[in-house]
Amino acid sequence: MLNKQGFNLWADDYDKTVQNSEENDSYPFAGYKTILNIIFNEVMQKQNSKVLDIGFGTGVLTSKLYNNEHQIDGVDFSDKMIEIAKIKMPKAILIECDITNGLPPEFKENKYDFIVSTYAIHHLSDDQKIVFIKQLLTLLEDNGKIFIGDIAFENREKLELCQKDNIGHWDSDEFYLVYEEIKSSLKTECNCDFHQISHCGGVFVISK
Ligand SMILES: C[S@@+](CC[C@H](N)C(=O)[O-])C[C@H]1O[C@@H](n2cnc3c(N)ncnc32)[C@H](O)[C@@H]1O
Repeated sequence: MLNKQGFNLWADDYDKTVQNSEENDSYPFAGYKTILNIIFNEVMQKQNSKVLDIGFGTGVLTSKLYNNEHQIDGVDFSDKMIEIAKIKMPKAILIECDITNGLPPEFKENKYDFIVSTYAIHHLSDDQKIVFIKQLLTLLEDNGKIFIGDIAFENREKLELCQKDNIGHWDSDEFYLVYEEIKSSLKTECNCDFHQISHCGGVFVISK
């Protein structure tokens, strides 16, 4: 699994890597643009909303929202990614923070219309993801929504099929999202829907 230094080294080439994988419709980024567009269009339904982006990277999604008058807060643990995103979103509040330790104190009292995260949550273990999503729920406005776009599957069987098809370059250090398992773990806390967008990517919609 890539650590902070790994992401710092990847930052300058990140957008190109994603584009190659997305254009070839291949694991891991097949469906990337569609997934980000779906989330973008959902957030655009509300004007001037307050958005928190978890693991914003180079700011591909949130800089578009920023340019459309949404108020952006974000966390990422790579100072190089933050440097790139900050140029695109000078007034956004972008905090360097490792989400395996939870959210930074700066954001803990805030409320958001939308919390978005694309291709970042799979860096948390399955147990950590549930704890973290529960923490995110406390930051949501009553009608707010969490959108998670990531490498994700309806069930574990489908994940394992994808793993078989990509055995040569499957990243076993990452923890891809499994809808049936996440929905079951969160069933007393929130509503959780899932839309499979590509053969390895999908969007979760989570609300209180
Ligand atoms: C694959 S990139 C996704 C970037 C962007 N959201 C996108 O969709 O293009 C994953 C991002 O999550 C960040 N990240 C990974 N693990 C993290 C952690 N434990 N805490 C905070 N950020 C993390 C990385 O620095 C990187 O910017």
